[in-house]
Amino acid sequence: MKEAAQAGYEAWLRKRTVTDQTQLSLIMRWTNGIVLEEDDRYIQTAASELAEMIAAWTGRRPSDSVPGDGGGWLRIGTFMGSSEVARAFSEEEMSVVQEDGFRLRRLGERVLIAGMTGRGVLYGAFAFLRLMQTGDSLDELDELSNPANSLRLINQWDNVDGSIERGYSGQSIFYAEGEIVRDLSRVRDYARLLASVGINGIVINNVNVHKLETMFLTEKYLPRIVEVANVFRTYGIRLFLSINFAAPIELGDLPTADPLDEAVKDWWKERARELYGRIPDFGGFLVKADSEFRPGPFTYGRDHADGANMLAEALAPYGGLIVWRCFVYNCNQDWRDRKTDRARAAYDHFTPLDGRFMDNVVLQVKNGPMDFQVREPVSPLFGAMPNTNMLIEFQITQEYTGQQRHLCYLVPQWKEALDFDTYLRGEGSTVKKVADGSLFGRPLGGFAAVSNIGSDANWTGHPLAQANLYGYGRLAWDPDLSADGIAVEWTKQTFGHNDYVIRTVLAMLMSSWGVYESYTAPLGVGWMVKPNHHYGPDVDGYEYSMWGTYHFADCRGIGVDRSVHTGTGYAGQYHSPHSERFESAETTPDELLLFFHHVPYRHRLHSGKTVIQHIYDTHFEGAERAEELVDQWEGLKGYIDHNIFEQGLSRFQEQAEHAKEWRDVINTYFWRKSGIADEQGRTLY
Ligand code: GCU
Repeated sequence: MKEAAQAGYEAWLRKRTVTDQTQLSLIMRWTNGIVLEEDDRYIQTAASELAEMIAAWTGRRPSDSVPGDGGGWLRIGTFMGSSEVARAFSEEEMSVVQEDGFRLRRLGERVLIAGMTGRGVLYGAFAFLRLMQTGDSLDELDELSNPANSLRLINQWDNVDGSIERGYSGQSIFYAEGEIVRDLSRVRDYARLLASVGINGIVINNVNVHKLETMFLTEKYLPRIVEVANVFRTYGIRLFLSINFAAPIELGDLPTADPLDEAVKDWWKERARELYGRIPDFGGFLVKADSEFRPGPFTYGRDHADGANMLAEALAPYGGLIVWRCFVYNCNQDWRDRKTDRARAAYDHFTPLDGRFMDNVVLQVKNGPMDFQVREPVSPLFGAMPNTNMLIEFQITQEYTGQQRHLCYLVPQWKEALDFDTYLRGEGSTVKKVADGSLFGRPLGGFAAVSNIGSDANWTGHPLAQANLYGYGRLAWDPDLSADGIAVEWTKQTFGHNDYVIRTVLAMLMSSWGVYESYTAPLGVGWMVKPNHHYGPDVDGYEYSMWGTYHFADCRGIGVDRSVHTGTGYAGQYHSPHSERFESAETTPDELLLFFHHVPYRHRLHSGKTVIQHIYDTHFEGAERAEELVDQWEGLKGYIDHNIFEQGLSRFQEQAEHAKEWRDVINTYFWRKSGIADEQGRTLY
């Protein structure tokens, strides 16, 4: 019973006896002892993680000294503190290790886990554990690893009442009934999972800050927030808070929140002083302002730079950051207005402000110009502000991608965005280089993503949705990793080394985004979801999509004209050659055609099919492929943990049924709208 209830809880850090003999002997070979010379917080964490995992895998706890019998052992420490570690590397080898980076090296019977800082050692320890779970030999081990991104953040959209905005796996693990939970052991386990993939910052409350969360800045909550910060600190993760821009008013202290008002500035300085008095390594504030009815500087005739800089000034003396979101658009667009375009909004609002933000401000930009749809182009804001720090924001929680009832491995989608070449400094000016700051030599940059975890025993509801959390962390550390490489790593750690299991899970993960897209979002049309909760098919359902303003389907055609010549002009926000490529329907890739162009249903795609035939066919195929997922999963029965198998099975069955509903709703709608098909979706010419 207990095991059933706990199935999936350990996620990819499984603490159970390793049965694969090759793997077991590898682990036994190298883990007879763990020796550390420094008394650093993070090195202590590293040592205890190593010892506990190894003990669980092998049934034997490593000794804390050099083993007498000649077996392999680990020495862990920084280049500064541990003379042994420092002696094993040349000056040059040490100098290339960055703040959070590490080196792993085998020297005779020793394996060195070395970092510039204790945090680096912690990441090195988790990397070593990963090698133990996925690799086959340490003989040649000599690895240098630096994170590409200095900021690797997770955003919780948790509310203090215990609910989670866009959460699909139970309630919050942080809050219940207006309080921070008493027992923080689950938060601690979450911190371990995050640290194991290199996450170094977490925003613990929703970007939409309500009345109670506004009070996080007060005595009512601060003492407990300090405890949460302590838990995350053990794992090298800095705590951030989302704040309400109108907090000085909401908390009844001031009549205004005008960022240029001296009293407002002082108020925030005082909050910063209090916060840093208690949490010296506090990360900073995340701010959603003048967006979806949240307050912001516009009320006072000020702009985003005025708002962000006022807060940045308050936090600067302590090394704090302001993460300012660019998700700003007009929710009340009139359906007759075909020129206002939500896709343009972030670029239009923010590019004129380039160069005005302080150095401790980072703009957080969603990967696409709209809102985490199944398929979107990359936001043209990346690269368009060379004098501004920027983070790329992803959504791990599957709001528009199946809500963790459907399988959708998102790493391939994120990879596409990261590898997109903006051409802003010539060829090779990829989005990942904008995000990490290297393209323009920015001091700060990185990744942020909305988490997908909750109180469900397996964290993510769908057992395979864990791969998205894992994959996000791994990509934030190294965006050059491949989507399938990450999937294999994750599968081995989660399900063990059986080849058949690895091949099956890999195939399911890698096909899943395409399968989901095929029955929900043809050719770049998104938003065909039920209002507010955004689950299930409804072509005109999305709450801000009055009269189909998000796809403009009528009896003649479908799609949004975003060209410069005849449309909203959005295509012109890209640098050449994309601006020309997206300007014309002929050169726009099929998968984005209807995002950029309004075309007749009989428009012929590069694939040779007409648009309408593509819509019908992909919906039929998609529903079939969703059924195949059930078969693939059923094939794993007996090969993976029974309880996890059951958790997955019910989801895949639901997905298959739901895919049929999607197929029928979408195809019927377009059959009626276009009048070009029989009931089976065969085009009538
Ligand atoms: C989406 C989501 C909202 C969220 C918003 C945001 O629109 O539906 O719930 O608040 O994104 O990113 O701020």
